[in-house]
Amino acid sequence: MNEKIQVISKFALEGLETQGLHDEAMAAKQTLESGSGLGNDFLGWLHLPSSIDEEQLQAIGKSAAQLRSECEYVICIGIGGSYLGAKAVIEALSDHFAAYKSGNGPKVLFAGSNIGEDYLYDMIDLVKGHKFGIIVISKSGTTTEPGIAFRIFKDMLERQEGKEFAQRNIVAVTDARRGALRGLATQEGYATYVIPDDVGGRFSVLTPVGLLPIAVAGFDITALVAGAVEMEREGDEQVLNYAIARNALYRNGKKIEILANFTPRLHFLAEWWKQLYGESEGKGHKGIFPASVDFTTDLHSMGQMIQDGERTLFETVLSVGDQDHEVIIPSDEKDLDGLNYIAGKNVDYVNKMAELGTRLAHIDGGVPNLLITIPRLNERFVGQLIYFFEKACGVSGYMLGVNPFDQPGVEAYKKNMFALLEKPGYEEATAAIKAKLNK
Ligand code: PA5
Repeated sequence: MNEKIQVISKFALEGLETQGLHDEAMAAKQTLESGSGLGNDFLGWLHLPSSIDEEQLQAIGKSAAQLRSECEYVICIGIGGSYLGAKAVIEALSDHFAAYKSGNGPKVLFAGSNIGEDYLYDMIDLVKGHKFGIIVISKSGTTTEPGIAFRIFKDMLERQEGKEFAQRNIVAVTDARRGALRGLATQEGYATYVIPDDVGGRFSVLTPVGLLPIAVAGFDITALVAGAVEMEREGDEQVLNYAIARNALYRNGKKIEILANFTPRLHFLAEWWKQLYGESEGKGHKGIFPASVDFTTDLHSMGQMIQDGERTLFETVLSVGDQDHEVIIPSDEKDLDGLNYIAGKNVDYVNKMAELGTRLAHIDGGVPNLLITIPRLNERFVGQLIYFFEKACGVSGYMLGVNPFDQPGVEAYKKNMFALLEKPGYEEATAAIKAKLNK
């Protein structure tokens, strides 16, 4: 692999002792690879890229082609790990203004990742009178947010286009056997894809959970998987560098990691990363809090806090090498805005100087800086980035001493919500909550 993403920790670890951590990281990697650690029944993602065959990619391509051929919009319904990976990859590879341009293929929309009534109303209004399809994604098949959205859009599609059109253009991605969505899909005769038992939601982007929406959006899933395979085979040095650096910093009081980008298309990659690391590491009152910023935008808002607030932060900058297009800053005879000193330069040159200037300023301000370089934003390098972050998360979680593959904490709000909604079976919890609120 000649070109790949790199982790550079030169400005992160000055003065820190990391030799012991190197041994710990090697041990954690061994635990992960041998399947002898906590959560080892959820390691299906570890060799997933290299196990995806041509036949699977072709089947996904065929379903995508069906949706692309008949639909103006495709609504992807899912939340958390059943949403963020596809959203992150599609955004990282898309024209920023694709939503406003007519192009090839359907517009991909996302629903079921919130319970905003106006959000749903506006989407209903958008697709009214237009042919649309649905990809409904839920591993458990019982999650409330996507459940509500699917009920609404299924009903609308059947009324608007008829049962047969709906049956052709609804695809369900869910557990092989369990859950309400599996039963419903079988009953209605929808095309289905399976989320493997041993792949947790936040590690599922390279299963049909991510691959189908990404293919519907028109991107090359073969190249995406090939990029991930490269990291699976040759990415361990980068994985170890990242896991060691973040654990060294955490143990030295740096409790918050800010993932910073200077590339607007990476906003949702950071959202995906926050779920991956937050849900994997935040356990037993431990864990690095994952935060994110979009620069230079947020330098004009959060920049002050990063430069000068409490010194519990470190920063990881995602730095993209080449842009796809060039925009040159023009010269102006009068130079009233005083910008002629950068006339003739391309905009990315200025962005790169802002990036370097920011890193140096934050380092001077006591914010250790990790750098992850990505040659450019295409399917191959985004695939590399996904696998790199997943494996580093497994190694880092084991170094922290937690089970990186469960998420028991996310059930607490659901229990209260169901009790408040008076869901059958929650009578005791409803009574307890009412007593608490009336105290
Ligand atoms: O990573 C996870 O496991 C979660 O974020 C889930 O993906 C999320 O809660 C959605 O669950 P499901 O796919 O079962 O609807």
